[in-house]
Amino acid sequence: EKGGWSSFMRKEVAEQPDAVANTIRGRIVDGEVHIPELESFGDDELRGVRRITVVACGTASYAGQVAKYAIEQWARVPVEVELSHEFRYREPVIDDGTLVLSISQSGETMDTLMAVKYAREQGARTISICNTQGATIPRESDAVVYTHAGPEVAVASTKAFVAQITALYLFGLHLARVRGTLAPEALADALAELQAIPAKIETVLGQSERVAELAHWMADTRSVLFLGRHVGFPIAMEGALKLKELAYIHAEGFAAGELKHGPIALIEPGQPVFVVVPSPRGSANLHPKVVSNIQEIRARGARVIAIAEEGDAAVLPYADEVIRIPLAAPLFEPLLAVVPLQVFAMELSQAKGLDVDQPRNLAKSVTVE
Ligand code: M6R
Repeated sequence: EKGGWSSFMRKEVAEQPDAVANTIRGRIVDGEVHIPELESFGDDELRGVRRITVVACGTASYAGQVAKYAIEQWARVPVEVELSHEFRYREPVIDDGTLVLSISQSGETMDTLMAVKYAREQGARTISICNTQGATIPRESDAVVYTHAGPEVAVASTKAFVAQITALYLFGLHLARVRGTLAPEALADALAELQAIPAKIETVLGQSERVAELAHWMADTRSVLFLGRHVGFPIAMEGALKLKELAYIHAEGFAAGELKHGPIALIEPGQPVFVVVPSPRGSANLHPKVVSNIQEIRARGARVIAIAEEGDAAVLPYADEVIRIPLAAPLFEPLLAVVPLQVFAMELSQAKGLDVDQPRNLAKSVTVE
């Protein structure tokens, strides 16, 4: 079933353009989002949502964290993202304005299932984002929006992650339309951005050989740090998680703004640091702030690998390596920036002779608490 690929993960990384395209397919009709699965949630109910709580674990929780930025910006609803196992055991405040959104590739993760059941018992309405038809979590939810990534076999989640962000973005844009929080042109622009993503992921995949070389040079590395800001922050954490689980290397993801509140003490000569650089075209002036973070760590000897958009020259004097991603609206960059991080972890695992599809101590779906 690997269809000529050396591992399931390699195949699934390559399938990401299709995972996004298939998740969009049929859901944008005449320039409008159309999610028939959400029919049981009438427009009035969606207008009445006062708060969204996302419950998920691992990579799925990072998809939720990315979507938090987009849904809050587009639909002006507060979104909190909770690890399912933390949510369930702390008497969370749930009222009738709370919508609980679960995210799970397998649809069988016990912690997330328990969180959904608990939320329903407390009277919340629940929607699940799931990749597995008929799985338990969707059956326990009021509605399900399926991701159409196709079966994901490798333990490390890749194509399901980009499909989850895609489905969450479609949901966020649907919510924004219903609530009237986004001008029609802005909505159309966002949908066009989403539809352009598959081809752009293909372009990023075109650089995989360079990323592989980088990983092979770094096979003896003992620790790698990842920095990001805004939507790049969950991507930094996802890059670190991939590296831990696949290459058994200590890795941590930080919000770049947090650097001087502690983590910068970790920087010593030779420390590899991946930096997800926000677009210079972004509104909040985050780009120069991250470039100055790069200068700060470089001055302390860090080896900087920047993931930056095409044409961003500001990073060149300070980065040891630059991996380029095509231009995209800032909220859509995570769908591109995550790809080289997945490839890096996969290649490093392979360079170390490890089992990339089945890392030690891990299971594809965690069906125990
Ligand atoms: O099936 P789920 O999406 O509920 O799984 C959640 C996590 O167990 C999963 O994303 C895990 O973190 C992956 N191994 C990460 O690559």
